[in-house]
Amino acid sequence: MQKDFLSIRDFSPQEIGYFLDVACQLKAYPGAYTRALKGKTLAMIFEKPSLRTRVTFDVGIQQLGGHPLYLSPAEISLGKRESVYDVAKNLERMVQGIMVRTFAHDIVVDMARHARIPVINGLTDYSHHCQAMADYLTMLEVKGRIAGLKVAYIGDGNNVAHSLLFAGAQLGADVWVATPPGYEPDSHAVAWAAVRSAATDASCTITNDPNLAASGADVVYTDVWASMGQEAEAAARRKTFQPYQVNAKLFATAKPDAIFMHCLPAHRGDEVTDDVIDSPRSFVFQQAENRLHAQKAIMLELMKDNRAAERETAREPRLELVK
Ligand code: CP
Ligand code: NVA
Repeated sequence: MQKDFLSIRDFSPQEIGYFLDVACQLKAYPGAYTRALKGKTLAMIFEKPSLRTRVTFDVGIQQLGGHPLYLSPAEISLGKRESVYDVAKNLERMVQGIMVRTFAHDIVVDMARHARIPVINGLTDYSHHCQAMADYLTMLEVKGRIAGLKVAYIGDGNNVAHSLLFAGAQLGADVWVATPPGYEPDSHAVAWAAVRSAATDASCTITNDPNLAASGADVVYTDVWASMGQEAEAAARRKTFQPYQVNAKLFATAKPDAIFMHCLPAHRGDEVTDDVIDSPRSFVFQQAENRLHAQKAIMLELMKDNRAAERETAREPRLELVK
């Protein structure tokens, strides 16, 4: 198993399935593993705002017996107040795991490279893998399977879209992504998903036609049109993305038992209308809750077993000082 949880691409389909299985167990038995991470602290570095990620990591580590340490955007300023290397070398001596939410994806990669403790990607401009784990856990719960599901993501080809593509390719889903021209997912991400899909009987299709994507879908998924850091583009994007709004008309082209999903926060009236997000076929809050269970599985697997690494780095006591 990897030291870090940076990308769903770094794991085998079996390992991703294992995380989901552990998440299901943790959800079913909330009293289990309440001492598994006793004495361990997770530093949570946030360079962007958050509700779900902040609360679910905070509550999750406590439910496993550990402690959360919230570090706000004003405190660390990765790469500005202090280099990523220096932050990593400090924190590895003080805490047992690091969760990072930041802008450039390279920052979490660098953090993981330099820190000898597990690093978890809590969202970058490129990906949002903890979200995708909760998303596919929700699909499994509601639909009873993942393989063969048509998952239609409609909106910006952004971090959430990339992670849905990666996880779908690992788990056998048919992922469709419909974006306005110029807002397609990163071509390298699509290429990776296409290659992995061929091995897992999955598929990935990129289109500019929202109706084609939504038609016959089992899952219709959207996200904000302007992500964190893109606020200045919000007005222009609102115009461009209007034909990609998930409203009752578009949702009606999906299967009659299709479900609606959204990573949240939602901008109601923009990417989704109230009648869709508030409908009985919307599972957005179950999805949000599943962040907790999915991340507990990730923390448990990454942080429970690092005693060997701790022993390796611990110095022998200097006898002259302890006598
Ligand atoms: N979906 C999600 O990551 O929400 P937050 O930005 O509130 O953490
Ligand atoms: N694409 C959104 C996801 C928020 C959870 C953003 O990056 O702001």
